[in-house]
Amino acid sequence: MSDHFPVLLDEVIETLITDIDGVYVDCTLGFAGHSSSILKKISKHGFLIGLDLDPYALNKAEKKLKETGKEQFSVHHASYKQFPEVLSKLGIDKVSGFLFDLGISSYQIDSEHRGFSYMREGPLDMRFNPQGEKTAKDVLSEISEKELIEILQTYAEISHADKIAKSIIHERNKNNMNTTSDLKIAISNATNGICSNKILSRIFQALRITVNDEIQTFKDTLSKIPNYLVKGGRVCVISFHSIEDRIAKHFFKDSVIINEYDYYDRSKLDSSKKLNVLTKKPIVATRDEVFKNTRSRSAKLRAAQL
Ligand SMILES: C[S@@+](CC[C@H](N)C(=O)[O-])C[C@H]1O[C@@H](n2cnc3c(N)ncnc32)[C@H](O)[C@@H]1O
Repeated sequence: MSDHFPVLLDEVIETLITDIDGVYVDCTLGFAGHSSSILKKISKHGFLIGLDLDPYALNKAEKKLKETGKEQFSVHHASYKQFPEVLSKLGIDKVSGFLFDLGISSYQIDSEHRGFSYMREGPLDMRFNPQGEKTAKDVLSEISEKELIEILQTYAEISHADKIAKSIIHERNKNNMNTTSDLKIAISNATNGICSNKILSRIFQALRITVNDEIQTFKDTLSKIPNYLVKGGRVCVISFHSIEDRIAKHFFKDSVIINEYDYYDRSKLDSSKKLNVLTKKPIVATRDEVFKNTRSRSAKLRAAQL
């Protein structure tokens, strides 16, 4: 398993924490790389809440948080979209900061049995939550060719999406779509065996985004954030995909999610819920960080304040 380096750690801590007595929600706890630093930084009056869909990550995170010697935290096996319910159970109305470090952890990508990586043989699973409804295999077994083309075009942003989708559906119809290698072979068949790792990685990522409904979940959750921030509270988003970065960028600017087909009357926006952008341009990793952790290469941090 690769070493765990929380991405843009100093930048996140500096941007997120405005009040050491505040409550902070780490929506994507992972192995608590960011959260253990948040916990160390806050005072004994502050509180940290960590959410993750992956029970293995939660277990590891809890141990790491305990190692700080501080006790004012709680971790929950939940999707971040459930944060209002978690806060309500804890009797908390407002918080000082939310953190999203989107996507997949190095541990998850390196775990072959989770089926996230084209570089490892494993079942086509790809669920963040192993108790989640549908695996990647289930999704591929139900999807139409047209839907698959759309997913490949939107989330993988590849050319020849139609050829690749056709080949995947062809193999799926022969019951040949069970493992990461099966998917790789179908992609390879469509590209005469010439398929770069970049393309493979994008296709696997696109499927993972679909399996976990990542884009809609992120949009729905972001739109609730201003209602739960104290005045001056902040939200930080680290993204690794241009779609997520665009969503954060526009939401921070407009304080509203505008879906392609939705009409939204901005005059109706409650001005007390309007966010202020703190990062005109996204914060990116230094050369030093990229050298130590190549995963940070495509990370973008955006932040806003109520
Ligand atoms: C990039 S990792 C976070 C790493 C973490 N910041 C650290 O430093 O250890 C992303 C984590 O988000 C979790 N995740 C993805 N979607 C989620 C969701 N909807 N709700 C809660 N956790 C989610 C994944 O299981 C994964 O553990």
